[in-house]
Amino acid sequence: MNRVILAYSGGLDTSIIVRWLKERGFEVITYTADVGQKEELTEIPEKARKAGAVEAIVEDVREEFAKDFCLPTLRAMALYEKKYPLTASLSRPLISKKLVEYAKKHGADYIAHGSTGKGNDQVRFEVSAWALNPDIEVLAPVREWEFKSREQEIEYAMKYNIPIKATKENPYSIDKNLWGVSIECGVLEDPYQEPPKDAYQITTDPQDAPNTPEYVNITFKEGIPIAINGKEYSFLYRLIEDLNDIASRHGVGRIDMVENRLVGIKSREIYEAPGAMCLYKAYDDLAAIVLDKYTYQYIINHVSNVYANLVYEGLWFSPLKESLDAFNKNIAKYINGDVRLKLYKGNIEVVGRRSTNALYIEELSTYTEKDTFDHRAGAMFTKVYGLPLKVFGRVNRRTR
Ligand code: ARG
Repeated sequence: MNRVILAYSGGLDTSIIVRWLKERGFEVITYTADVGQKEELTEIPEKARKAGAVEAIVEDVREEFAKDFCLPTLRAMALYEKKYPLTASLSRPLISKKLVEYAKKHGADYIAHGSTGKGNDQVRFEVSAWALNPDIEVLAPVREWEFKSREQEIEYAMKYNIPIKATKENPYSIDKNLWGVSIECGVLEDPYQEPPKDAYQITTDPQDAPNTPEYVNITFKEGIPIAINGKEYSFLYRLIEDLNDIASRHGVGRIDMVENRLVGIKSREIYEAPGAMCLYKAYDDLAAIVLDKYTYQYIINHVSNVYANLVYEGLWFSPLKESLDAFNKNIAKYINGDVRLKLYKGNIEVVGRRSTNALYIEELSTYTEKDTFDHRAGAMFTKVYGLPLKVFGRVNRRTR
C-alpha cells in the first residue's frame, strides 16, 4: 500500500490533490496545522474525507511554532533582505517535521505538498523533510498535473464531488500565520502599482488608524517576550496574538518589497507582521543596551543576515542554523528588561528602554556634574588610537 501524508489546507489545490493521489493508487492521510492562521479548522476532517482521504489529522501547533520557530528567528534578529520577517518561511519546516513524524507513525513512505514548481515553499518542504528523514519520498502533484487553470481544477472538483468553497475567487494568494501574513498575485504583480486597500488583510490603513498614539511596554526575560503592559503570559503564542491585535489597529508592520526567490525569480510580495515587527524593534533596542559593542555588532552585522538566508532558503534543519541558535540562545540570557514602544499611524517608535543588566551607566554617559569619567584619559586614548594615521600622514605628507 502506498500511503502518503499530505499537507492539507482545505483549499482548492490541496483538496484536488487528495483525489488525484487516490486515483494513482495512494491512500491519503491529510495533515493540517493550526499555526495561528485564524481560520476555522473544524470542517477540515469532513472536507478531507469527502475529497477521498482515509484520515484527517488537525493539530494545534501554535505554541510550538511560537517557541521553536518564531522565537529563535527573533533572537537572530533575522530579516530577509533586511525587510521580511520570514513568516511563511517559518511554518514550512514545522509542517515538514510533522509530516515526517506522522509518516513514521502511520507507516507511510511518502509525504506530499501543494506547492508549485517556481516558489520557495517546495524547497523548504522537501529539504526540511529530507534533513529529518533522508529516505522519505516527496510528491508535489501541482508540479506535474494536467490542470492549466483554476477553472479546470474546479471542473475536476465538481466531477468528483470534492467540496470547494462557493466564495468569490480571492485575487490574491495569501499565506497567514501567527508571525504574519504574506500576500502576492493579482494587481500586486505590477511592482509599480500601490497595493490596493483590500490587499492588506489584518492591518488598518495607517491613514485610518487612531489619531492618538498608543504606548506598549514589552517585557523580556532571557530573550523571551513575557509580558505586555505588565500582563504576563504563560504562552508565547498568546502574547504574539495580542500584540498583533494591538499593533494592527495602528497599521504598523506593513512591508512592500520585491524579493529574490531561491529559484532565481524576483517576486513582489507585501507582508503584514504587526506583532513581529514590534518584537524585532524592541529586541534590537534591548540588545543595544545590554550587550557590549562587539557582541551587538556581531549579531546585527554577521548573524542576522546569514540566519535570514538559511531560513528563507529552506535550511532550517541545517547544522549551521542549529549552531547559530545555540549562539543566540547564549546571548539571549542578557536580554532582560522593558522596552516602551509608541505606535502611531504605521510607525513603531522605541521611546524607552531599561534593564537590570544595562551597560548604560549614567555616571559615565552624563554631561552634568554627576560625571565620573576621567576626561584626561581621553587625551592618552586619542593619542594612541590616532597614531597609525599620524604616522601615515607624516610619511605621505600632503598639502591641500
Ligand atoms: N515570499 C514569501 C516566502 O517565500 C511568502 C511565500 C508564500 N506567499 C504567499 N502569498 N502564498 O517566504
